[in-house]
Amino acid sequence: MTVSTTDNTALHDDNSQTQPLRYPVICIDGPSGAGKGTVTWRLAQALDYQLLDSGALYRIVGLKAFEAGLVTADTSQAIDEMAVLKLTQSLDIAFVPNNASGRVDILVNDEAVGEQVRNETVGGYASQIAVFPKVREALLKLQQDMATRSGLVADGRDMGTVVFPNADVKVFLTASAEARAERRVAQLSNAGQTADFDAILTTIKARDDRDENRSTAPSKPATDALLLDSSMFDADEVYEQVKKHCQSQGIIFNS
Ligand code: DC
Repeated sequence: MTVSTTDNTALHDDNSQTQPLRYPVICIDGPSGAGKGTVTWRLAQALDYQLLDSGALYRIVGLKAFEAGLVTADTSQAIDEMAVLKLTQSLDIAFVPNNASGRVDILVNDEAVGEQVRNETVGGYASQIAVFPKVREALLKLQQDMATRSGLVADGRDMGTVVFPNADVKVFLTASAEARAERRVAQLSNAGQTADFDAILTTIKARDDRDENRSTAPSKPATDALLLDSSMFDADEVYEQVKKHCQSQGIIFNS
């Protein structure tokens, strides 16, 4: 498996040793819909750091596993971990920042999959394959390598606990399941789509439950993470609080 980064350098998973951190790393962990993506993007822009959207890696594997018939929406169905591992190892992934959309475009085997991986259904597939230790291990070194080229802002569930335990800054951003469901409903209706609050809330809670209770790298705050509940704050307020925390940990912002 190969992941290309913004400087077009291909990173190969052929070295199994964890390397010491040489550049600052900021970890933003927490459940879906807590606002991690927005904060991560803004920090990466302000600091000129690379951005690691680790959820996208799991979403890509989830989508490809679905396309290969290895995973379905029926969560009671057994999944072949070794087949998902093989598929994971065969993927060639590129992250390309898109200033116009404020997101990172994703190419898999040279094919754009960006919007397709963002929907809730694919989030569910991602959460299902993310329970497998071998799949997580296959993605681990690739994620860690992203911190060896420049500063990094990493968004995920286990950035501060497993992937970058020595990170300079760790934040665990959360929000009540209800607040996150409300945000999702607003997002969908802004996009002209109808949304059922109760159905969305049920999906969010089921995914939280699986992500928080798996045995390998469960979603949880690192002991040295700043815990921030974004339920009552807007995106600007959350960003300012995270920025202040980064500054208190020695990260220098030029603006
Ligand atoms: O952050 P997200 O919603 O894009 O993540 C999709 C799923 O991927 C999430 O439900 C669990 C999994 N995931 C993970 O296990 N570890 C990460 N570091 C990031 C995501």
